[in-house]
Amino acid sequence: MAYTIKVNGVSHSVDVDDDTPLLWVLRDVLGMTGTKFGCGMALCGACTVHIDGAPTRSCITTVDSIGTSAITTIEAIGATPAGAKIQKAWLDREVPQCGYCQSGQIMSAAALIAGNAHPTDADIDDAMSGNICRCGTYVRIREAIKQAAQSNG
Ligand code: FES
Ligand code: FES
Repeated sequence: MAYTIKVNGVSHSVDVDDDTPLLWVLRDVLGMTGTKFGCGMALCGACTVHIDGAPTRSCITTVDSIGTSAITTIEAIGATPAGAKIQKAWLDREVPQCGYCQSGQIMSAAALIAGNAHPTDADIDDAMSGNICRCGTYVRIREAIKQAAQSNG
């Protein structure tokens, strides 16, 4: 079936089965491979995108559930104020190791500081607990989120 979805401000027509996960529409149909596949079961956070600003696991979000909602991916998060701050902090703190989980980490972190200019440690734990990093970059992730939040003034 044909769907029109809005990704990073651009409308795309895609012809896929109703239950196709958004992750595969992004990666396989639209060629946006920045969003990663990890578990496919909403357990790791690697596939996190924003839907109307909310961090969402694209591996379990079917294309027929999206409607007119606005999707933002790692390819465009740097164009948002929160995303730009998070990406700068990620670079300054040299957060990634292998990098595989980091798209999802950045998407969750950007959503956090977009909605909470000065998150506490508990807020960070709540927002980031669903994003798994096999390389154990959690300490640098926390430092980078705090740095980005400081730049909120
Ligand atoms: S691939 Fe979606 S949460 Fe793991
Ligand atoms: S940086 Fe390797 S899994 Fe997170």
